[in-house]
Amino acid sequence: MKQPGVLGTIGPEDHDAVARLLHRSLVAWYESKLRQGYRFGSQSTPYRLIPEVYAALDPGEAVASRDAATGELLGVCFVHPRPSHVSLGIVATSPEAQGRGVARAMLEPVLAKAQARGLPVRLVSSLLNLDSFSLYSRLGFVPHTLYQDVVVPVPAAGLAVAPPVGASRIRRARPDEAGRIAGLERRLQGIDREHDYAFFLKNPVGDWRVWVEESSRGDLLGVMVASLHPHHGMIGPGVAVDEATATALLWTALDAMRGSSPVILVPCAAGGLVRTLYGWGGRNLELHAAQTCGRAAPATGLAFPTFLPESA
Ligand SMILES: CC(C)(COP(=O)(O)OP(=O)(O)OC[C@H]1O[C@@H](n2cnc3c(N)ncnc32)[C@H](O)[C@@H]1OP(=O)(O)O)[C@@H](O)C(=O)NCCC(=O)NCCS
Repeated sequence: MKQPGVLGTIGPEDHDAVARLLHRSLVAWYESKLRQGYRFGSQSTPYRLIPEVYAALDPGEAVASRDAATGELLGVCFVHPRPSHVSLGIVATSPEAQGRGVARAMLEPVLAKAQARGLPVRLVSSLLNLDSFSLYSRLGFVPHTLYQDVVVPVPAAGLAVAPPVGASRIRRARPDEAGRIAGLERRLQGIDREHDYAFFLKNPVGDWRVWVEESSRGDLLGVMVASLHPHHGMIGPGVAVDEATATALLWTALDAMRGSSPVILVPCAAGGLVRTLYGWGGRNLELHAAQTCGRAAPATGLAFPTFLPESA
């Protein structure tokens, strides 16, 4: 029987190989199962941003599996420990090594470590990818929130719709607001990740923007982050008390991303917001489920997760 590989971590010298593995495994899986390999482009270079962002956010936390004889990279997954939980970023096994337990072998020690610390593990899993969904289900993850991946092409002249009510109240977050923003998310979603918001506000790797809305009394009502990096155009993570706040935040982020087509993970339960995005030209791309292994924190408001960094 083939062995699943030797576990270790990755360093900056591995980033090109990691980018190639991520790109190859996504193209091969989506092409062979769904005929959608084209979605991941023809170059691996854009995928370097993934290990670079995680190396800056959580140095030494990525897990790699390597062939014992050749040292060749067989698989990689990104681990993101936070005070309230552990998040798992993309998990990928090279096409030649799939189905021999590489992913399970990488994830089991991560789950055991989180369990020993009493922390749940969270991720977002594609509902088009039944192999990864099954992998996570077998390991004990249970879905709790459904998201529609909506892509919104923003013309160079901006969206052809009037700004929604509330857009004038949105402002860029100040550099010292990470703690306040994290407090809002802790209150609404029961998770704690000030470190991430401090990272976005400092903006050392990638190209991030952070917007907030406050009530007339000065209470935070919502936050929305966007990645404007040419290799990763996505809106989120974000959290909002209601659909009106989320709508104003999303419009502002889209307006800042003119000439691109960012992806937004929109909670399926926010039906009015989804229809608003259709009205702005949004199209469904995929479906994702937020899943937790261990206790899922009770949540209120609306959350907008992302794939980079993983932010279920
Ligand atoms: C998803 C992926 C990471 C799985 O990696 P892998 O190394 O082939 O997975 P493993 O061999 O460790 O299999 C894990 C378990 O899932 C099970 N599994 C896989 N596909 C399954 C399916 N369709 N139904 C039921 N179980 C399935 C395996 O049988 C195995 O269970 P077991 O250990 O109890 O026998 C791999 O297919 C991949 O890299 N895909 C492309 C990248 C991707 O889409 N990543 C996920 C999105 S982030």
